[in-house]
Amino acid sequence: MKAQNRSRLIVYGCLAIVSVLLLAAGLFLLGRKRAVVPEYVFSYAENQTQDYPTTMGGVRFAALVEERTQGRIRIQVHAEGEFGSEAEVIRQMRYGGIDFARISLAQVADNIPEMKVLQLPYLYEDADHMWRVLDGEIGERFLQYPKQYDLIGLSWYDAGARNIYCATKPVRTLEDMQGMHIRIQESEMMSEMITALGAVPVKIPYNQVYAALERSQVDGAENNWSSYETMQHYEVAKYYTVDEHIRIPEMQICAKHTWEQLSEEDRAVILECAKESALYERELWTEHERKARKTALENQVEEIVLSAEEKKKFQSAMAPIYERYEADYGEDIAQIRALGAEK
Ligand code: GCU
Repeated sequence: MKAQNRSRLIVYGCLAIVSVLLLAAGLFLLGRKRAVVPEYVFSYAENQTQDYPTTMGGVRFAALVEERTQGRIRIQVHAEGEFGSEAEVIRQMRYGGIDFARISLAQVADNIPEMKVLQLPYLYEDADHMWRVLDGEIGERFLQYPKQYDLIGLSWYDAGARNIYCATKPVRTLEDMQGMHIRIQESEMMSEMITALGAVPVKIPYNQVYAALERSQVDGAENNWSSYETMQHYEVAKYYTVDEHIRIPEMQICAKHTWEQLSEEDRAVILECAKESALYERELWTEHERKARKTALENQVEEIVLSAEEKKKFQSAMAPIYERYEADYGEDIAQIRALGAEK
């Protein structure tokens, strides 16, 4: 009888232990499942290739957000222009559909008059000057402007300086620009700039530029070394003229309707991750640009560096644009210029 009781006790004891273990395992799995099922799954549009610095910055941003929200917010980066041209992406962000994007300032500013001054031709003396502006009070203020257009500015990415490149002939002087058909972004400021140089602007979305150059719809285009190389424009436009006519930073933006769904804490995390990813993108940028130039030059591209005298002529040709913008945005221009002299 005693022995029977003991065995019963042992059986009950074992059952109790197994039940506790099962309960613990169940709770653990339940907990784990909760942590990995995201509360939000957002889309992020990017028109560059997977290995381009801005795309890698976007992927880093998504990873940081997922990590810091313990998987509650997942952001899926769709690169290579999967969601259409930058103009279309902005439209889709404003009317629902796309949550985040990395877009050229030229495209964002096209809809927001106050933002255009930030991409005036020959505004910055060099990259350091631009970063003093964007990393300071002015950059922060300009990140707020897209709000009036249902977009939230998150951070600034680097895109270097843009230069002219041609398929039909080399541009060595301002004279050479006269009457040339040059592809531009879908941006009024870019149109004003190419017109001021005496050429004819032709608006074409980024992913159609190669075809336009190849079938001679345009004589040339303008972009940084990285885009010129990544989009293989160097195969069809062999003359690259370093005139550094403009620096157009990139913006990370969020749709207002998406932003409004988020708590204050989540917004703070997103802003912090966007800024961190921007530092990462800027690090990648310099090296990517250097390699892109090297690849282009190894592929029979002729690099033409404008003489100081000729560059002055390009700069002077922009005077009418400054006259137009000085009237309304003279103070911004003066503040930006003052940071150039600082050094
Ligand atoms: C840069 C920028 C792109 C933009 C492109 C253009 O490459 O990174 O976002 O679309 O210029 O000229 O259209």
